[in-house]
Amino acid sequence: MLVFLIGFMGAGKTTLGTHYTRVHGGRFIDLDDWLVAQAGMSISDIFAKEGEAGFRRRERQALESLEAFRDTATLVACGGGTPCFGDNMKWMRQHGQTVYLSLSPATLHQRLKHEQAQRPLIRDLSHNQLRTFVEELLEKRNPYYQQASIILNEGQISVKGLHRAINSLRPGSPSAQSSN
Ligand code: S3P
Repeated sequence: MLVFLIGFMGAGKTTLGTHYTRVHGGRFIDLDDWLVAQAGMSISDIFAKEGEAGFRRRERQALESLEAFRDTATLVACGGGTPCFGDNMKWMRQHGQTVYLSLSPATLHQRLKHEQAQRPLIRDLSHNQLRTFVEELLEKRNPYYQQASIILNEGQISVKGLHRAINSLRPGSPSAQSSN
């Protein structure tokens, strides 16, 4: 089963996915790293050379290439924008399960202000600009994120919380819905 972790930049998708698969096994794929390996260029270079449109095209291609792992336990940390472009969210829901790591704009802002450098979308923003950016973009992206099969809120985001969520998603499980 493919499980896609989705959520805003700074939500901790990669960290949680890495820890989860260390504890519970299975394959872990970070979609950004996967795409960078396919492109032979960093995310920043892709944005600089091909713009965001080029990045989104490559992101979609990388996503589609994950179909090969459909029959093995595979946890994928998506980029923050992955579910929000084209019909990526539909594709993910058709090919696997989706788990949204939902954090408040305040928490995301706190985390992101220490991690701006490697993210082209926020690299050049001031402290105040970053706050507004997070609030506005989260509001725009929320309708996509909310389509996830499972939503984990701040207190539920842990290896244990994710394990419970993934177990509830296994075919034949009595409750394959939100763990709110
Ligand atoms: C993006 C998030 C990034 C990366 C790219 C665009 C976004 O991934 O895919 O910089 O649009 O939110 P992370 O969420 O892992 O930072």
